[in-house]
Amino acid sequence: MSIIRQSRSFVKRLVYGDTLIPQEFTVALPIPQQEVVVFVHGLGSPFDVTDCHTTACCAPMVIGISMDRNRCRPRRGHPPVSLRFFENAAARHLLGEIRLAPQSLIALSPERDLVLFTVVGSTNYCLSRLRLLAHYVPQAFSNWRHSTSFDVRMSSLEIRASQVAFIRPHPLVLGSVSTGAGENIFPMNLMGSLGHGYFAFALKDSRRAAHLVERARCLALSSLPLSLCAAAFRLAANHQREFADWTQVPFLAGRSPEFGLPVPLAAGGITELAVERVQRIGSHTLFIAKVISKLLTSQEPQVHTLHGFYLHWRLRGDREKLYASLRDDLVNKHGTMPAES
Ligand SMILES: Cc1cc2nc3c(=O)[nH]c(=O)nc-3n(C[C@H](O)[C@H](O)[C@H](O)COP(=O)(O)O)c2cc1C
Repeated sequence: MSIIRQSRSFVKRLVYGDTLIPQEFTVALPIPQQEVVVFVHGLGSPFDVTDCHTTACCAPMVIGISMDRNRCRPRRGHPPVSLRFFENAAARHLLGEIRLAPQSLIALSPERDLVLFTVVGSTNYCLSRLRLLAHYVPQAFSNWRHSTSFDVRMSSLEIRASQVAFIRPHPLVLGSVSTGAGENIFPMNLMGSLGHGYFAFALKDSRRAAHLVERARCLALSSLPLSLCAAAFRLAANHQREFADWTQVPFLAGRSPEFGLPVPLAAGGITELAVERVQRIGSHTLFIAKVISKLLTSQEPQVHTLHGFYLHWRLRGDREKLYASLRDDLVNKHGTMPAES
């Protein structure tokens, strides 16, 4: 290695330590995940929303939280409400916080609303401030330089908040849909239960998948064992297509119980959803759906995605485990270790 390259890698190591890792990691966890809990602070006494919130849109970044109607209501001008992410263990480490301002309400039922909040700030506690700064400064510069060429134009504030949102592991599922033109299947992870039989997910408005689901009004979500993770990544291009090329789908498919949609036979669970409301927000369309059926076919852990900074925190400085996670993640996403790594 030349002297210049050596000194460059020395400086990088000094600045970033071992935190130059992918933003998105894949890991297998039980469903529902139990390792992170999420609370709302700033609306009376804090309350648990781990399984009743979702990212509704990335640009602008909007978070939806489902709440009982009689809960203390956020009003415009209210001091910021915050969504706090904690380790679900005795120590209850605070891992991150997203500060929110109320935007609008969507009625879910006579007792419950989905409150949409815009993101006004965030703090990530998974890395030290210095390491975060090392990531944030070039990220903000690159964002500023390339923002016009990005498909989803997120501000630096929104990117940081989404890194916090993905501290809570999100299941990676395959969404199946059927329209007159054919059947499609594609990976999804921007989603969350809203509780009380409701579920929400967000799809990019600029991709075909969002419009297919809007037409079809029903969808099956299949949770995936690690053995199907690479297949899910390979199907990402289907977000752009009207229907899947089923000769190229790399698994055996069966049918979902109520809607008869094509789902992987090896899926660990299948949730069928009937879309009740479609809300265009910005880069993403938010779908609010009623859960029609929920089938758990395996106790095996299923694929989740989580943010790299949280993964780093989770391993508490254990380099060996970090390298093993990096290798596992590559294999999960590609099926085998890519030749160049
Ligand atoms: C693991 C994974 C999860 C994804 N989840 C979503 C999602 O929840 N919503 C969405 O609109 N797109 C989702 N996508 C699609 C990507 O945002 C992107 O549109 C897709 O990979 C195709 O890339 P392209 O749009 O740049 O061609 C996902 C892709 C992958 C690989």
